[in-house]
Amino acid sequence: MARDQRIEPADEMPDGYRRTMVRQIAQHAHSEIIGMQPEGEWITRAPTLRRKAILLAKVQDEAGHGLYLYSAAETLGADRGDLTRRLIDGKQKYSSIFNYPTRSFADVGVIGWLVDGAAICNQVPLCRSSYGPYARAMIRICKEESFHQRQGYELLMTMMHGTPRQREMVQDAVDRWWWPSLMMFGPPDAQSPNTAQSMAWKIKRHTNDELRQRFVDMTVPQAAALGVTLPDPALRWNEERGHHDFGQPDWDELKRVISGDGPMNRRRLDRRRRADEDGAWVRSAAAAHAVRTSRAAGPGTGGLDGEA
Ligand SMILES: [Fe+2]
Ligand SMILES: [Fe+2]
Repeated sequence: MARDQRIEPADEMPDGYRRTMVRQIAQHAHSEIIGMQPEGEWITRAPTLRRKAILLAKVQDEAGHGLYLYSAAETLGADRGDLTRRLIDGKQKYSSIFNYPTRSFADVGVIGWLVDGAAICNQVPLCRSSYGPYARAMIRICKEESFHQRQGYELLMTMMHGTPRQREMVQDAVDRWWWPSLMMFGPPDAQSPNTAQSMAWKIKRHTNDELRQRFVDMTVPQAAALGVTLPDPALRWNEERGHHDFGQPDWDELKRVISGDGPMNRRRLDRRRRADEDGAWVRSAAAAHAVRTSRAAGPGTGGLDGEA
């Protein structure tokens, strides 16, 4: 680790490192999959064929991200079915951001711009995470996230050049998503007890507050170019620090949302549970097929016997 080499699946590692890694990767995978819901609700209501094609591609990318990440967790000995069960039973978390509702199509743009933008700030340093399979998955994920951010920004730019009503929709969505986006970086460093250990293990490369600052500095000029106002009266450039000063989100709200009491928590998990139940027959059919083909390919099995 000191030489900045990657830890690979067959390497020895402390139990704590393995547990932390499985927890982080699972939480990340769950976030990608649950994250399909808020925007997925708009696929049938996209205003044009072009917007629908873009949104479909984006939501499918998130499914792919979930799959790369569950695979990365499996290299540490975790079982994907078991991780999904723990998500559905509320024993493992996903990002708080997906517990907020999407009220208009402008939310699709703002999620791309702010939520995928915050995800990029969080995830680019993870491409150098000490666990090899996770770091490699992040490289591809980050490329796709930057497409997500671009499509969101382009949608908002189009709406800002539209009617006064469209500009209002964009501002309203920015007002609702700004603070939850800042919460995506987690609690302030002083209240983040695991940060030091994760930094020592090079799972994490920057603290929550450092990443939050980076996101704010990146986003302020983009907001100005769009012509929207970020809903924070304390937001201003600090010449001395060379960074923007900004207000603190409502950390009690973050605690409530993480512990299951956000506006959409119940609905997101219900939907995930139903999808899992509806997909059970596909999984058992695929498993039966896998058994049959491996028997057919194996020595002295006598070929396809149809029983599984
Ligand atoms: Fe993603
Ligand atoms: Fe994304």
